[in-house]
Amino acid sequence: MLETRLTEKLGCRYPIVQTAMGWVADPNLVAGSCNAGGFGFLAGATIPADEIERDILRVRELTDRPFGVNFHMYQPNAAHIVDLVIEHGVRAVSYSRSPGPEFIKKLKDAGVICMPTVGLPKHAVKAVELGADVITVQGGEGGGHTGAVPTTLLIPQIVDAVGDRVPVVAAGGFKDGRGLVAALAWGADGIAMGTRFLMTEESPVPRETLQRYIDCKDAAQIIVSRAMDGLPQRMIMNELLSELERAGPLKKLWIALRNAQAFHRHTGASLGGLLRSAWQMHRDSEIPTSQALMSANAPMIIQRAMVDGRPAQGVLPSGQVAAVIDRLLSCEELINAIVEEAEQRLSALALHASKR
Ligand SMILES: Cc1cc2nc3c(=O)[nH]c(=O)nc-3n(C[C@H](O)[C@H](O)[C@H](O)COP(=O)(O)O)c2cc1C
Repeated sequence: MLETRLTEKLGCRYPIVQTAMGWVADPNLVAGSCNAGGFGFLAGATIPADEIERDILRVRELTDRPFGVNFHMYQPNAAHIVDLVIEHGVRAVSYSRSPGPEFIKKLKDAGVICMPTVGLPKHAVKAVELGADVITVQGGEGGGHTGAVPTTLLIPQIVDAVGDRVPVVAAGGFKDGRGLVAALAWGADGIAMGTRFLMTEESPVPRETLQRYIDCKDAAQIIVSRAMDGLPQRMIMNELLSELERAGPLKKLWIALRNAQAFHRHTGASLGGLLRSAWQMHRDSEIPTSQALMSANAPMIIQRAMVDGRPAQGVLPSGQVAAVIDRLLSCEELINAIVEEAEQRLSALALHASKR
């Protein structure tokens, strides 16, 4: 009942995608999702360049199911990732901003499925023109960098715009079988979830940080802020975000400098280098120095919560759906529960229709 154009293209059992999440979608989570019948993406944008091949091979060791790799086509090692994806027969890639036509062509020539994420109909049309084989659509309630239009409005619009040419996958706010059936009813071919997979037993995120996700019960406390890298990003309100949101320009500069210093102490990375890259960002894009400095050390601040387990001192990227998730499940329990509930709903709807 749940076979769609998506399961056919990706070679997975169910139309359920585990999206890439920086520092979260590691080989163990990807393999967990794939072994349970979904399709997982490795977070290639945050894996150090010299570890990406090792992580691809690690997924291969943990599962014989197809999987994908996510990366930015503008990141410095993009060409290397494209070569590794082709060399190791990775089934699909996902990407978002600034897609590179030459990389897309090379990947498609090698039979790799190109699956960008978009947040507006015009971007979906453009992505298909550039060669996308599948489009993931993320509504504004989704986690991490996100747009302003909610999933309920966006999915049908994008299905109308490109759904006759490529499968459309709905993302932003999904967690269960009802959501999957709703997405199918809108004309999508499946769902993609970030936050729900972040909140699984296989998630590498430290328990202290995961507890913040479980404890958050108010979707209005999972806000969109530009405080980190200047782009709208959805995160759970915590001590650091609250300080950033209230700060004026001078305070922001002070917080940015404080973080830069902590970054320097923690990693040994040169403070001068960080300041230079912030200055360059400020000069090239005319964003305020404090914002540029904050952007330069945003990765470090995110890692503090997601890797080091210090949720008050870092930021907590999350979809609003975290507010209605109260426990961790294994990937297998999660996917089985979604499939079971979706099949029940579909049968109930069919029965309802046959009685009319
Ligand atoms: C912690 C976190 C990190 C994320 N990192 C990335 C990333 O590196 N690349 C990317 O394309 N999307 C990233 N996203 C967005 C997700 O891939 C996905 O599109 C989004 O979480 C879907 O919405 P949901 O959280 O409501 O399921 C991230 C999301 C979260 C929650």
